[in-house]
Amino acid sequence: MHRLTNRQIILGITGGIAAYKSAELTRILKTHGADVRIVMTPAACEFITPLTLQALSGHAVHQHILDPEAEAGMGHIELAKWADMILIAPASADFMARLNSGMGNDLLSTICLASEAPVVLAPAMNQAMWRDVQTQQNATDLQNKNIRLLGPGVGDQACGDNGPGRMLEPLEIASQAAALFEQGSLAGKQVFITAGPTREALDPVRYISNHSSGKMGYALAAAAADAGARVKLISGPVNLEAPARCERVQVESAQQMLDASLDGISDCDIFIAAAAVADYRPVSVAEHKMKKGKEELMELHLVKNPDIVATIASQPDNPFCIGFAAETQDVVAYAQDKLQRKNLDLIIANDVSRSDIGFNSDENAVTVISKTAATPLPQTSKRLLAKQLINLIADQYAGK
Ligand code: C5P
Repeated sequence: MHRLTNRQIILGITGGIAAYKSAELTRILKTHGADVRIVMTPAACEFITPLTLQALSGHAVHQHILDPEAEAGMGHIELAKWADMILIAPASADFMARLNSGMGNDLLSTICLASEAPVVLAPAMNQAMWRDVQTQQNATDLQNKNIRLLGPGVGDQACGDNGPGRMLEPLEIASQAAALFEQGSLAGKQVFITAGPTREALDPVRYISNHSSGKMGYALAAAAADAGARVKLISGPVNLEAPARCERVQVESAQQMLDASLDGISDCDIFIAAAAVADYRPVSVAEHKMKKGKEELMELHLVKNPDIVATIASQPDNPFCIGFAAETQDVVAYAQDKLQRKNLDLIIANDVSRSDIGFNSDENAVTVISKTAATPLPQTSKRLLAKQLINLIADQYAGK
């Protein structure tokens, strides 16, 4: 079931008595980390209310293709592109027939036509309807078109008959659907990532900060989510959209970043410190805007900030900890020293003396240093580098 983490699933519900079980299926998919959007046919709404599914999925239910309001939000094409899987449970005989003939006469069938995501059906109908020659032909044709059928099961039916056509139980459907996804290298792991700069206030309008763009940390968050991790991105102020499938916690100061990092740390498996944390902060923050004096020189008294990654690495039962070392000379030697001092498992060293990579650039080149090895990763986009780093981190974590 770990494979469901961060997966975007459209759960299509068609008209059948088994539709009441779709409520439980929604809950199971959500519990295992999937983001679920519900699409209901008009007949499905006769068996279970959209309100129930809205409450369980946490999103408005999609019902009509010609609804300008819904189309202005997440329209049918957007939904079709959003989905990693379209799971239809229950799938009625009528829906299977319409899907097989390529019809787009309601929202759900149109989404199936418009999507490149795999379509998976859990058929549910009376045993005679399932045995019907045309239904059997539709089932065979759909499977030949790479549409997966889960079940149906055999047994007592709501109508009093006994035979094939029962929808599989929700847990069985969820686990068979989960098995169809590839196992991401961080499936089910909880990853915390710090990113961006911190701001250390001097007074209500001024602060000390740095030029970190947050791009590397955000790219790592997106890559970790793609690899199946649950990601908490603890971000200083940056100009970037929160990556999809990540929980973003926005902070300003190093102290706030530390507090957000410690919050829930006992559930964290991997901690990646990509933030450029200010080393010092003003001893005190002036209550009012500081006034210009007559003196030419002004003294600022600063005090050291807590070291966030070192604090996390020294927690009992600490997560696997990865830091960054931005250096301008003797990059590997300084990074190795930092690895020891902060008690890290890995450190990612980069040379910030080069103007073509690092801070604010879209590209980077790094060396990943463990206690026993140094692995250089050559210059490439931060997005590709993040993918390579997440794979490497996942390997090292698995072998720790
Ligand atoms: O000591 P230095 O700032 O060079 O260490 C860099 C690494 O330590 C980075 O991973 C950075 O995110 C982390 N760090 C931190 N808290 C600090 C300073 C640095 O987590 N106060």
